[in-house]
Amino acid sequence: MKVVAITGASAGIGLACAKVVAARGDAVVLSARRGDRLDAEVAAIRAAGGQALAVTGDVTVEADMTTLVARAVEAYGRLDVMIANAGIGYHDTFVATPPDVMRRLIDVNLMGTLYAARAAALQFTKQQSGHLIVISSIVGRRGIAGSSVYSATKAAQAGLVESLRAEWHGTPLRASAVYPISTATEFRDAIRRDYGFTVQGRGPKQTAGSVAQAVLRCMDVPRPEVYPYRRARLLALVNSLAPGLADRLVTRFGRQRTP
Ligand SMILES: NC(=O)c1ccc[n+]([C@@H]2O[C@H](COP(=O)([O-])OP(=O)(O)OC[C@H]3O[C@@H](n4cnc5c(N)ncnc54)[C@H](OP(=O)(O)O)[C@@H]3O)[C@@H](O)[C@H]2O)c1
Repeated sequence: MKVVAITGASAGIGLACAKVVAARGDAVVLSARRGDRLDAEVAAIRAAGGQALAVTGDVTVEADMTTLVARAVEAYGRLDVMIANAGIGYHDTFVATPPDVMRRLIDVNLMGTLYAARAAALQFTKQQSGHLIVISSIVGRRGIAGSSVYSATKAAQAGLVESLRAEWHGTPLRASAVYPISTATEFRDAIRRDYGFTVQGRGPKQTAGSVAQAVLRCMDVPRPEVYPYRRARLLALVNSLAPGLADRLVTRFGRQRTP
């Protein structure tokens, strides 16, 4: 049995991960701001015979991430996996993106990941075991129009995981980055709730369940990088070999604001 903490577990990819992890007998510690949702999910997991715990918290508050790890260790004796998943989106041209929106994206997507990762890494170092899995995005590997600040936060997550892999080389500690493509979740509803518009895009889509299955495989066999939609790896490859060609390719995946 593994002990798995997940940020952003009240919806979307985080919740899908919590469900698959619990269904196979691992203990899952769900964290997000909406405690009522977490309580309902924990009750459903327990009713099905699984082990779960809700720890309400905000990833932008460092103490909440320390508490998340402490509660996991208190309940289950250790922490094997931290899935740093909580995140928010936005869409606009770079010049039209207000600085307060930029700061919010950085606070949640980057500082939130750093706080969760650091709290977990302190425990991993003590235990001399542990696996950090960061849910980035394909736009962290190759930016698209209208997504500049979001892409920057997602690329920063990639940099974090690469550095940790180098830092932890030769130790039992592992770090992985996951690069989903457009996924059917509440992500766009959250943009509407926060900013009064939403985003629609062209191109392929995947389900939160398929991302969760890829995360589960990565927990079992840790990999540096996971592309749940396999062809997306090609885009990352083309971007590093021929970025000008990638500039043309990504115009196909443009997104638009809709009311
Ligand atoms: N959907 C996509 O197309 C897509 C594609 C690639 C990558 N991703 C990435 O996948 C991750 C999950 O997104 P999703 O699509 O599953 O979105 P989602 O359905 O909107 O879920 C986002 C989760 O993050 C939590 N969250 C937001 N702000 C938070 C905060 N300040 N503190 C703690 N939790 C917070 C939300 O819970 P509360 O509101 O209850 O706090 C929710 O549980 C994100 O990092 C996103 O960038 C998404």
